[in-house]
Amino acid sequence: MSASAQRNYRPETQLVHAGTLRSQFGETSEALFLTQGYVYDSALSAERRFKNEEPGYQYSRFSNPTVTMFEQRMAALEGAGAARATATGMAAVTTALMGQVRAGDHVVASKALFGSCLYVVEDHLPRYGVASTLVNGNDLDEWRKAVRPNTKTFFLESPTNPALEVLDIQAIAEIAHAAGATLVVDNVFSTPLFQRPLELGADCVVYSATKHIDGQGRCLGGVVLGSEKFIQDHIHNLIRQTGPSLSPFNAWVLLKGLETLCVRVRQQTDTAAMVAVALSEQPKVSRLIYPGRPDHPQADIVHRQMRGGSTLVAFEVKGGKAAAFRFQDALKLVRISNNLGDAKSLITHPATTTHQRLKPEARAELGISDGMLRLSVGLESLADLTADIDRALAASRI
Ligand SMILES: Cc1ncc(COP(=O)(O)O)c(C=O)c1O
Repeated sequence: MSASAQRNYRPETQLVHAGTLRSQFGETSEALFLTQGYVYDSALSAERRFKNEEPGYQYSRFSNPTVTMFEQRMAALEGAGAARATATGMAAVTTALMGQVRAGDHVVASKALFGSCLYVVEDHLPRYGVASTLVNGNDLDEWRKAVRPNTKTFFLESPTNPALEVLDIQAIAEIAHAAGATLVVDNVFSTPLFQRPLELGADCVVYSATKHIDGQGRCLGGVVLGSEKFIQDHIHNLIRQTGPSLSPFNAWVLLKGLETLCVRVRQQTDTAAMVAVALSEQPKVSRLIYPGRPDHPQADIVHRQMRGGSTLVAFEVKGGKAAAFRFQDALKLVRISNNLGDAKSLITHPATTTHQRLKPEARAELGISDGMLRLSVGLESLADLTADIDRALAASRI
């Protein structure tokens, strides 16, 4: 199937078929090419391949057929010109930012970032002479005012981790472009099914494939997507030469994950929306945030920008940290884990886990209170999940 034909299919079909490279054996499932290197028919062929005068693989740090299948499937799904897979989501984020800057440049990022992304922007980039400014992502004036003549890129995630704030990607992309900068969007929380940042004007999209794309808690992975030119100019050589490459085995697991992404994410989102309704009716819950509900703080942007809600629900229990801990400890079906997007429902207390490094004032600014919990809804029955939550709320003396 040609690449252009694959792009005309709907996401459900692309998730199963796009990018498949069938070997001479005609296998139905994608082959796992667990190989480090490749042999050449002749010395001349080796020379020509290294000079890019002949197509073919050279070494699996550069590329590998199973990894190529994953990259092409992701590019078709995202509507991107090209994709490069990485070993983790953090490798994807780091490559997307580092690939665009050099010492003396400047990056603007939204404050509401996943903890390790914040480290990259605030600590690592400045160590290499790249200044960074953090802004309140929903204040468009702050983005405008942060721009300097040397600003190269903007970086944001939406919905944010863990407060599920939704940022106006189109408006922020326009500000970036007016300043001669690019926009990188971490789209982990919405998945490619519910939000398409490239269509909204972003130049680059990154994923932790560890989350919904695997979705079954097995392996780590990441991917960077953009136009063919963006990937060639900023990403291709950096990945080949520094080596944050995805293992073919993990690429194979992720390909299998993609096959079921749509059914899993839709089911988990439907359940999460109902869990949000149940939580909103609980007197022990003082705040509930769920994209798609009319009471979401950026309901208008959600409506404009997203095609679905979220598999995640953020809420605050009355009684602060002690109550949040008692509630988590009383849960039996939902397990305590900082991971998300899994088939198993997982809960975390961001103030003491993913965002514990932040000062209390910075957490307060991001809406991460001591009573806040982030629930990643899995594939269990809604009735069993709400029974577990109700029982744990009752048992936790809130
Ligand atoms: C929004 C977001 N971006 C990036 C990452 C990093 O992904 P990984 O753990 O695969 O490196 C995470 C992980 O939780 C995340 O939630």
